[in-house]
Amino acid sequence: MKKIKVNDVELAYRDEGSGKPILFLHAFPLNQTMWDEQVAKFASTHRVITFDWRGFGESGMSSTQSSMPIFADDLAELLNLLEIEKATICGLSMGGYAAFAFYREYAERVNALILCDTRAAADNDEAKRGRYEMAELARTKGASAIGEQMIPKLLGETTLKIRPTVADRIRSMIEAAQPEGIAQALIGMAQRENSTNLLPQISCPTLIVVGDEDKLTPPTEAETLAQSIRASRLEVIKDAGHLSNLEQPASFNQAINKYLNQL
Ligand code: MLT
Repeated sequence: MKKIKVNDVELAYRDEGSGKPILFLHAFPLNQTMWDEQVAKFASTHRVITFDWRGFGESGMSSTQSSMPIFADDLAELLNLLEIEKATICGLSMGGYAAFAFYREYAERVNALILCDTRAAADNDEAKRGRYEMAELARTKGASAIGEQMIPKLLGETTLKIRPTVADRIRSMIEAAQPEGIAQALIGMAQRENSTNLLPQISCPTLIVVGDEDKLTPPTEAETLAQSIRASRLEVIKDAGHLSNLEQPASFNQAINKYLNQL
């Protein structure tokens, strides 16, 4: 993994292949290795960039409280440093929340969006309370306690039944995160803006992807996005939960490939 100083942190990143740039934004509380199957596939046709958000994977942290706008600023600065003016941005779940924050500030730098297993609405009060409790759990019990809570929700029933080893891969990603990084991202997600009003303003081509067994951001959320974003198309990935890209990498890659070929 390469390292680069971005704003007030050092971020771990990969920059592979050549061609039109595509950036993949990882989910909470994972890291960029969740995109390994996509890097392997798309680096032969595109310039593929992945990185760990501050506090996750091999990236550092600072005293700045993480938030979706801070994540968006990190992404913009990373693009500057890599001399990329415009890119296709693919975000899954929290990566999608960050993609909305990025679009809000830097729309002119977005060639196209791929929004996977995510939602536009902000948290309600109950969800916010849950985030603060979970942040406390991360700080007191560490990343493994977060893994225990999250893994059954992240994976779909089919994966849990047929490919249970995927859970081990997820667990080691979660355990690579800094507990404070997890806590800060939770607070950042609790405080994130409602992006519902942004949806009709999104004018770039947008692909929306969702696993049909996604329990955290179910297909109804994806349908809402598809109805509100003008130039959008929806792809439902069969037998996948919330982590559609790594639960069903072949179907996911096929959907993305078809879309990228039409851009
Ligand atoms: C994620 O996968 O990024 C998280 O589940 C998002 C969330 O907790 O809202």
